[in-house]
Amino acid sequence: VRPVGVAVLGMGTVGTEVIRYMTENAEALASRIGAPLALRGVAVRDLTRDRGVDPELLTADPASLVSRDDVDVVVELMGGIDVPRPLLLEALRHGKAVVTANKALLAEYTDELAEAADSTRTDLYFEAAVAGAIPVIGPLRRSMAGDQVERVLGIVNGTTNYILSAMGATGADYAETLAEASRLGYAEADPTADVEGYDAAAKAAILASIAFHSRVTAGDVYREGISRISPDDFASARDMDCTIKLLAICEKLRREDGSEAVSARVYPALLPNSHPLATVNGAFNAVVVEAEAAGRLMFYGQGAGGSPTASAVLGDMVAAARNKVDSGRAPGESTYAALPVASMDEV
Ligand code: NAP
Ligand code: HSE
Repeated sequence: VRPVGVAVLGMGTVGTEVIRYMTENAEALASRIGAPLALRGVAVRDLTRDRGVDPELLTADPASLVSRDDVDVVVELMGGIDVPRPLLLEALRHGKAVVTANKALLAEYTDELAEAADSTRTDLYFEAAVAGAIPVIGPLRRSMAGDQVERVLGIVNGTTNYILSAMGATGADYAETLAEASRLGYAEADPTADVEGYDAAAKAAILASIAFHSRVTAGDVYREGISRISPDDFASARDMDCTIKLLAICEKLRREDGSEAVSARVYPALLPNSHPLATVNGAFNAVVVEAEAAGRLMFYGQGAGGSPTASAVLGDMVAAARNKVDSGRAPGESTYAALPVASMDEV
C-alpha cells in the first residue's frame, strides 16, 4: 500500500506532540487509515535545535514541502497569517489536504482557503482551531448540519480561563499567572492575542460562520479582553454569588422587520456560580450549542496545550488521509479487530 505523505509546518508546542503521537501510534493510525502515514518533512525556523526527529527531515523553507509529489497532507502548526496563507493556498491548489490549528488565519481567510480546496476537490480541516481537544467544529459542520442553530456560547480561550480561575480562586497575581500559562504552552506566541480577546474573537468568528452558514470574520466580532479585570472585580462578583468568565457569544438575532442577523461578541461577563460554565476552570473550555431540534448541547474538555490540541489535529489527519486512500470510506471492520474483548472476570 502506498503510504500517505505528511508534511508538518511548525514543530513547537503543538507540532512536537503531533509528531510524537504520529510516530508512537503509527501502527494504530495505519490500521484506521488503511495505509501508513509517512513523515516527509518538518518546517521550523531554527535548524540547530535537536528535536528528536531525523535532521534530514527538517527545513527552514516550508514552501519546499507544500507542493512535493510525495506529500498528500499538509499540517500547518506555525501560526501567524502572512507566512502560512500563501503556503496553504499553494498546497490546496496542488490538491494536498490541509489540516490547520490556525484560528487567526481561518478567521480572516476561510473563504479563500475553502475555495482553493473546492477547486481541487481536496480537504480543509481545522478542528484544533477552536477549543483544543474538544470536538465542536465536526459536530457543527456534520452532525448538526440539518438543524437550525440559534446560539453558541462558550469559554474558548484556555489562557484567559486559566488566569481568571486562578484570580477567582486564590487571588493569584495576573502577570504571574499569565507567565505560567505561557510556560505550560497554553498562550499564543504573543499572549496579547489571548488576554485582549483577539484569540477568542477569531474562534467566535469561526464558530459563527459554521453555525449560521454565514461569513463572519474576526473584525465583525465585538471584543473586550481581561487585562483590566482586578481583584476588586472578583470581590464584587463573589458578593453577588457570581464569577467572571471571558465568554464568546454567537447568536441569531431577529430584527424588527423580521429579517435575521448574526451577532458575535467576546467579553468578560459576570456568571452566576450556578451556571454550568461557571465551573469550567483552568485551561478547560466549554461550548454550549442551542439548536431548534437538538435543544441544548454542551461540549467540555481541555481547550489548550500541546497534547490536547494534537488530539484534534490527529483526528483531522486520519480523516484527510482516509480520503486520500479510499475516498473517505473507513477501512473494513477486520482492521478494528486488533483487541480481544475482555470478560467480566477481568474487570
Ligand atoms: P509555537 O510553539 O510558537 O510553534 C510554532 C512553530 O512554527 C515552531 O516550531 C516554529 O519554529 C515554527 N515556525 C514559525 N514560523 C515559521 C516559519 N516562518 N518558517 C518555518 N517554521 C516556522 O506555536 P504553537 O503553540 O505550537 O501553535 C501553533 C499553531 O496552533 C498556532 O496557529 C496556534 O494558534 C495554534 N494552536 C495552539 C494551541 C496551543 O495550545 N498552543 C492550541 C490550539 C491551536 P521554531 O521552533 O524554530 O521557532
Ligand atoms: N492560546 C489559545 C488558548 C490556545 O489559550 O486557548 C488554544 O487555542
